[in-house]
Amino acid sequence: MGQRILLYTGKGGVGKTSIAASTACSLAKMKRKTLVISTDPAHSLGDAFGIDIGPKPKKMTENLYAQEVSVNEAINTHWNELKGYLTGLFQTEGLDPISAEEIATLPGFDEASQLLYLRQYYDEKTYDAVVIDSAPTGESLKLLSFPEAMTWYMDKIFPMGRLAARLVRPVWNTVSSMSIPDDEVFKSVESLYEYLKRIRSILSDPKISTIRLVMNPDKMSLSETKRAFTYLLLYGYPVDSVFVNKIYDESTGSFFKGWRSNQGEIIKDVSDSFTDLRIFKVPMLKEEPIGIEKLQKMSDLIYSDSDPLDTFSKEKSIQFLKENEKYIVRLKLPFADKEKLEVFNKGGELIVQLGNWKRVFYLPTVYSDKNPVKAEFNNGVLDIEMK
Ligand SMILES: Nc1ncnc2c1ncn2[C@@H]1O[C@H](COP(=O)(O)OP(=O)(O)O)[C@@H](O)[C@H]1O
Ligand SMILES: [Mg+2]
Repeated sequence: MGQRILLYTGKGGVGKTSIAASTACSLAKMKRKTLVISTDPAHSLGDAFGIDIGPKPKKMTENLYAQEVSVNEAINTHWNELKGYLTGLFQTEGLDPISAEEIATLPGFDEASQLLYLRQYYDEKTYDAVVIDSAPTGESLKLLSFPEAMTWYMDKIFPMGRLAARLVRPVWNTVSSMSIPDDEVFKSVESLYEYLKRIRSILSDPKISTIRLVMNPDKMSLSETKRAFTYLLLYGYPVDSVFVNKIYDESTGSFFKGWRSNQGEIIKDVSDSFTDLRIFKVPMLKEEPIGIEKLQKMSDLIYSDSDPLDTFSKEKSIQFLKENEKYIVRLKLPFADKEKLEVFNKGGELIVQLGNWKRVFYLPTVYSDKNPVKAEFNNGVLDIEMK
């Protein structure tokens, strides 16, 4: 098996850190060199292990390493310069002000720095498995949409920005003390962009990466999980399973009777809704799973005979079909709200927008001369006819 990246995401407090750490412990026991890395700014990986963990990978036991990413460490001086230049550049060159504003609200370069680690570990083949204990759902969605957003801006604005800088620089330097970035900076921006594109390809390749949704059996957590699933599919990330954590079993007695029946309904909803995904049920444990030994036990309970590195679902979120001479782009978007779904064509690109999240599709070449003529959304499947 090649290297694997497993990313656990979900609402705050559902058990992402515990499950990620527990998974890592069992992988290490199976003699796979494993890193569990926390990208949640509110790190709690150290708490789960009961050991302080630094911003560099720290050896926990044989084959097991843990790291709590520090943005400060990851974003070195050069990176900071770049950030300043970027925002400065887009504001000073008289480019579309909305774009400049959007640049400023981009998920941020903080998130990108975590992605840079991922790329490094993957390319350097440092570990057999990298398990990501990610930030609560919203934040990790930002993280995962970052390469996509960056692609969009780079394609649209970067070539213009570069040209503008060339034309303006001779005059600019005489009228302003603020410097315009030179070609060196552009080169580094370009290489950063290449990095991000590469990271996107790593994270969206089901042979390498898999995203796992962690939830608790309650209504709020269920809604958030459905939303997250839809957005992840929109961006083409491979989601293979749902972990329903903290399930009360019979041993919890009569006091929890109401809760058990409530949880039962949610669990049924989960199995009815996520039909293509593997569903892992994790009981509420009698004590907090802290320390390698307890985490290991938790993992035995979760996976029993399954290998955590397996891909539990091979569902494709996007398909390109030819049906009765019609070219169709089929996108699975279960739980998407039809009202919030928009499909449009801009400068030869196919754009699908769901609420605030927008995905630009770079289509295979047979589609390059085609435009969307019709879009239909039924039972969580969006069919876009291209002509
Ligand atoms: N199955 C479980 N049984 C009992 N306690 C759990 C279980 N899963 C997680 N916990 C506890 O719940 C709390 C929150 O879990 P944590 O993994 O930190 O969640 P998250 O990373 O999603 O915020 C922690 O105190 C953790 O030890
Ligand atoms: Mg956590």
